[in-house]
Amino acid sequence: MNVDSAWYKYKASRLQDNSILPFPYLSFFVKPKPLTSIFTIDYKNPMAANPLVLILGAGPRIGASVAEKFASNGYKVAVASRSGSGTKTANGFLSLKADFTKPDSIPALFDAVKTEFHTSPSVVVYNAAALTNPPDKDSIFSLSAKSVALDLNVNTISPYVAAQQAVSGWETLPEETKKTFIYTGNILNVFIVPMPPMLDLGMGKSASAFWIGLADVTYSARGFR
Ligand SMILES: NC(=O)c1ccc[n+]([C@@H]2O[C@H](COP(=O)([O-])OP(=O)(O)OC[C@H]3O[C@@H](n4cnc5c(N)ncnc54)[C@H](OP(=O)(O)O)[C@@H]3O)[C@@H](O)[C@H]2O)c1
Repeated sequence: MNVDSAWYKYKASRLQDNSILPFPYLSFFVKPKPLTSIFTIDYKNPMAANPLVLILGAGPRIGASVAEKFASNGYKVAVASRSGSGTKTANGFLSLKADFTKPDSIPALFDAVKTEFHTSPSVVVYNAAALTNPPDKDSIFSLSAKSVALDLNVNTISPYVAAQQAVSGWETLPEETKKTFIYTGNILNVFIVPMPPMLDLGMGKSASAFWIGLADVTYSARGFR
């Protein structure tokens, strides 16, 4: 079962009983805005006509769908995950091998993308997530600090480094190019799930929600979202 399915199954099973959910309809208020504006391509601008998206953590579910969606809107696509091949995929995506438990490895990915496409990605999607269940399912403190740290690397530190790299690359792109960093979240930053197994996923999503919110507030005036 993937990292978030357990929570959604649990939520669905308890939706009949609103008394256990302090904010039962909160998810309706935190629905992400549609991505339509990102896909508006300026064909008069040669650089903007060949936009590039880098998807960090592209698996068979959200990652694959997002990659296809960008490709169908004219984007060149690079994807990265542990099972990356180091070559182009059948649908022409650059597939890179990456391990996001190691934030130091992120800059080399951006370098590889730039070498291949001769430009920086205008859109970066950080989609990977990590969750380790505490050995004692009733105690959040049964999880080792080492496991917490490794998963925080995946959920918070690596996307932070990726955002640093994205912003650095955007400085080299034309002003009119739309520049967007997307972090795939879930409900855990707005809702404390009474399930110890969700511990370190929630820690990571919450910490990332904070720095992403702060980045948006401080960079949106420059057109960086
Ligand atoms: N699926 C859901 O129900 C759901 C619900 C709410 C939110 N989300 C969020 O959506 C995002 C994507 O979830 P998904 O289930 O749809 O996954 P997905 O897009 O199918 O795949 C994500 C990919 O990330 C890669 N990855 C994971 N850990 C990595 C690491 N340490 N280093 C490099 N790559 C890594 C994995 O590929 P490799 O194995 O090849 O490394 C994995 O297949 C997550 O952030 C998740 O929290 C999912």
